[in-house]
Amino acid sequence: MMKRLSLVAMAIGALQLTAVAQTTTLQIDGAAPKNTISRHIYGHFAEHLGRCIYDGFWVGDSIKVPKKDRIRLDVVDALKKINIPNLRWPGGCFADEYHWRDGIGPRKQRPKMVNTNWGGVTEDNSFGTHEFMELCSLLKTEPYIAGNVGSGTVEEMAKWVEYFNAGGESSMAALRKQNGRAEPWKVTYWGVGNESWGCGGNMTPDYYADLYKRYATYARDYLGAPLRKIASGANGGDYNWTEVMMKNVPRNQMWGITLHYYTLPTGNWRGSKGSATIFDEKLYFNTMKNCLQMEELVNRHSAIMDKYDSAKRVALVVDEWGIWTDVEPGTNPGFLYQQNSLRDALIAGTTLNIFNNHCDRVKMANLAQTVNVLQALILTQREKMLLTPTYHVFDLYKVHMDAKHLPVKFTSPDYTMGNEKIPAINASASRDSTGATHITLVNLDPNKKQTLSTTLNGVQWSGVTGQIVTSGKVNDINTFENPGKIKVQNFTGASKQGNNLNIELPAQSVVMLELK
Ligand code: AHR
Repeated sequence: MMKRLSLVAMAIGALQLTAVAQTTTLQIDGAAPKNTISRHIYGHFAEHLGRCIYDGFWVGDSIKVPKKDRIRLDVVDALKKINIPNLRWPGGCFADEYHWRDGIGPRKQRPKMVNTNWGGVTEDNSFGTHEFMELCSLLKTEPYIAGNVGSGTVEEMAKWVEYFNAGGESSMAALRKQNGRAEPWKVTYWGVGNESWGCGGNMTPDYYADLYKRYATYARDYLGAPLRKIASGANGGDYNWTEVMMKNVPRNQMWGITLHYYTLPTGNWRGSKGSATIFDEKLYFNTMKNCLQMEELVNRHSAIMDKYDSAKRVALVVDEWGIWTDVEPGTNPGFLYQQNSLRDALIAGTTLNIFNNHCDRVKMANLAQTVNVLQALILTQREKMLLTPTYHVFDLYKVHMDAKHLPVKFTSPDYTMGNEKIPAINASASRDSTGATHITLVNLDPNKKQTLSTTLNGVQWSGVTGQIVTSGKVNDINTFENPGKIKVQNFTGASKQGNNLNIELPAQSVVMLELK
């Protein structure tokens, strides 16, 4: 009998041990926050590519939706709700073939060109500088211009800056006025080329560093518009590019340097990248493993930047990121149109947590791209429009913009697949100007919920509310027939116990908690 009882006791003990081992403890330090999460981490990107500008933001008479000029206002309203802080334009690869003078003046007289980068379609230049600035003003967002280094001249870029920003007497200010805009726009975010290692000119970093200094010198500051010049940076793990740029370009000539990294499900640029909607758990795992690479990239590029800039004056600008899959069957391969699933929402939540946690160096980032291209926030089909799961994550995370970053420490349980494992949970936290604390959590494991216990140091709160983005399957999507399948829902899995916060984090979910 004794023996049986002690066996039962041992079994209960083992069960308890298992239960304890499954609880992850998070420590959030709100005592003395040091860094601010720049709102510009939540930036977006709109290229003359596929149906992003044309048939996305900018539509013809046949599309019967409310418009200002030809700008779709339903799209504008949706983006305004998530407070997009900046919009990068006109590319991408397109930027290094774009000649801005083709996109000003009477539309009928604007020259046409072939968009050689994206599908070989006709670019009629009906959407140019004035149209983009009108879009930014409707969105109440800051423009981030990518200037042409690859095929443009120093003079061409210098004159574009003058066209945007010069007040008073100047030939470019006069031309701008003639085209209907008297006041300078005072644009400050200015990219000097794009992917100069590839579509932007196939340069070596040493050659580009010299060219950068030349173009940047003549991209002048005008009254009230000091330029924040951003150098074209590394392709993923090309650490030498960052090293050469940081070594050769003086701090005062470079506000930021970019990093481009896309999550490819198969990890393969040459063959199939993987479908946006049809994938098994193995490919899902691989996608998430590739997505988490961003942490290492940011760490290693930052370490190089620290060597030359310990004061962290130069920003790491991740101005192209997101999942890149095969295009939807039957669509133009050059248009990069892909559906957007719960998997993409988990990628967005994870990547934004990484950026928040590196906000001392990452001061700006741009998801590629806003409408109908790659990891889009919005998809359109004639008059119809849908918000993707990724949009809803940006909606949850907007609370972090310009808030004080609170460090979160924990050891994540593993999500395993065969012999491989990745951290199942990632998180970030911040305190906003009203004193509210926000925690965003992602559980990448599609099979297991996570039990979390959170200790909070230096956080005043009396209650917790939450919101969640999740769905039954990781490849669930919103469609034009069922646009509300995945949306933000109330989350009731968090509770206060003393000063501790307990959370039951569902499998495959992104959660935002508000502590007040
Ligand atoms: O976002 C699509 C393309 O990806 C951009 O034009 C280019 O910069 C990158 O290679």
